Amino acid sequence: MIRRLGSARRLSGTVALPGDKSISHRYAMLAALAEGRSELRNFAASQDCHSTLGCLRPLGVPVDVGPDCVTIEGRGLRGLAAPAQPLDAGNSGTTMRLLAGILAGHAFESVLGGDASLSRRPMQRILEPLALMGARVQAREGGLPPLGIGGGRLLGISYRPPVASAQVKSCILFAGLYADSATAVGETVPTRDHTEIALGEFGAALRRDGEWIEVEPAPRLRARRLEIPGDLSGAAFFLAAALVVPGSELLLAGVGLNRRRRELVDYLCRAGADLEVSGERELAGEPRGDLRARYGARFLQGALESIRGAAVAALIDEIPALAVLGSQTAGGLEVSDAAELRVKESDRIARLASNLRAMGAEVDERPDGFRIPGGQHLRGARIETHGDHRIAMAFAVAALVARGETEIDGAECADVSFPGFFEKLAGAVRS
Ligand code: S3P
Repeated sequence: MIRRLGSARRLSGTVALPGDKSISHRYAMLAALAEGRSELRNFAASQDCHSTLGCLRPLGVPVDVGPDCVTIEGRGLRGLAAPAQPLDAGNSGTTMRLLAGILAGHAFESVLGGDASLSRRPMQRILEPLALMGARVQAREGGLPPLGIGGGRLLGISYRPPVASAQVKSCILFAGLYADSATAVGETVPTRDHTEIALGEFGAALRRDGEWIEVEPAPRLRARRLEIPGDLSGAAFFLAAALVVPGSELLLAGVGLNRRRRELVDYLCRAGADLEVSGERELAGEPRGDLRARYGARFLQGALESIRGAAVAALIDEIPALAVLGSQTAGGLEVSDAAELRVKESDRIARLASNLRAMGAEVDERPDGFRIPGGQHLRGARIETHGDHRIAMAFAVAALVARGETEIDGAECADVSFPGFFEKLAGAVRS
């Protein structure tokens, strides 16, 4: 589907966000392994999280998607049933990598596949630790999906993933629930810790000691009633829009502000953005609050800090929105140490560069990042999303400040994380 967007004069109002995608995946999986009925409110409506639910059902887990909450009847830690068919993770790397850890603990064979984009994404990073734990794992050449997983009782390991990845960490910690002794993951660069928080909430025993996170094999997990905060990574596009379109002011209520994710807010504040956080509160270990973003000419005259090293993991999903923002701030944006962006839902470095260039911007593309000079005038263009939701949404923001019409090809991919994104954006634009 092609979406056409023109420049905006101003944005205002309140934007309701979908539930956080990362947290929704984890709660759904742990609820399936718990004993009893879990109720998950504000569960992400995103296609990715529905891929997770769609994998749980053939594993024998009753899942009901109601108007107010998703209800999951837990089967107990070892209670999943052998699936009759291959499981389909769709576009979702989180579904595939986290579920692989759980399947590795079950004494049946399963096959886990996905769409064309997911079938190109690297899985060696989880296959190696799972094999060390004693699981029988198979993949296509180059460690690509579909994955074949044969599990059972696993061995506890101490492992340092070679890439900074919350998905790899989470896969190992989930597999650790099925090990014969404690399993530890060492993180040189901190990544989002939703798994650690959720494991604790569902009753697993977890220890953190410096860079190491250790999980004990958990005989029983308890069902929970939980409320999922709004998705900060989805909010990023609305924050960016409010900061670049003159006269704008947007309120985003109940946004997740996990300490390892809120770097986006702190980063923008350090750059002089008019961003206010209020009503901060914590539920089930996950902080949340309300964000108000206002346009300010001074912010655009300033500079965004370069993103490199540990900041890359902290901002990994927000870099597409920040790249568009960088093209509008006087100082531009430089990103390095971010080769991981090339193995996301698309090669995001290439897609950001080609689409910004199509809009008339200058971009210096590098193997591990890019440099975008600031203060650039964008013109409407045809955007190729390559099925990547964050590219579609980032360029919807670019369209708001471009001269002329922008066409976003394959815009429906925004549903992967943010169903209704384009309608909500249109609803915030004032003429
Ligand atoms: C996620 C971790 C990140 C992120 C992805 C969601 C998660 O991926 O980019 O959108 O929920 O754990 P990596 O672990 O591959 O960095």
